[in-house]
Amino acid sequence: MPYMYKYRILLLGDSGVGKSCALLLSRYKRNEFNPESLTTIGLDFCTGSLEVDGKLIGAHFWDTAGQERFRTVTTAYYRGAAGALLVYDITKRDSYNSATQRWLEELREYKDNIDIMLVGNKTDLEYLRAVPTGEAKAFAAEHGLLFRETSAKDASNVQLAFQNLLTDIY
Ligand code: GTP
Ligand code: MG
Repeated sequence: MPYMYKYRILLLGDSGVGKSCALLLSRYKRNEFNPESLTTIGLDFCTGSLEVDGKLIGAHFWDTAGQERFRTVTTAYYRGAAGALLVYDITKRDSYNSATQRWLEELREYKDNIDIMLVGNKTDLEYLRAVPTGEAKAFAAEHGLLFRETSAKDASNVQLAFQNLLTDIY
């Protein structure tokens, strides 16, 4: 299958929500969950490809640091992006508030025309859930965002989330 396009996808969200773990999974398509994932410093890059509409779509993922002191993301990174995953932890209300306020506003400020997916990660911790699915879903619908809940730990929906976003962009 010929290699088709290369889109830049940003991962944004508070530190510890699982951005790097989700990316690792989507990239290797195997269960590669790393419970000792280290906080991202600056920016990590990786490429991956997914099949969309029978074509192999390439993406360049930019995994940003959630921790303020490690952030090196500038406006230029936002401008070249085709899509973004706004990730929060379903067991942490604060991370949802950041995703839907701070991260969304920052994204929209620098880049108006971009496909965004709100991602509630860590569904394997259902018993600790602090953000109801319906609430996030309604927010996403109201603000024109795609929405998925995932678990990088048990690998559920992670691949699907990346695929949905790329399909939307494509
Ligand atoms: P920063 O790089 O600091 O912005 O954080 P991050 O969003 O990249 O978080 P990372 O992927 O490094 O994961 C943080 C912690 O959450 C690690 O201890 C992971 O093992 C854990 N984690 C990530 N995804 C999941 C998940 O789906 N379920 C559970 N239970 N833990 C997860
Ligand atoms: Mg990280």
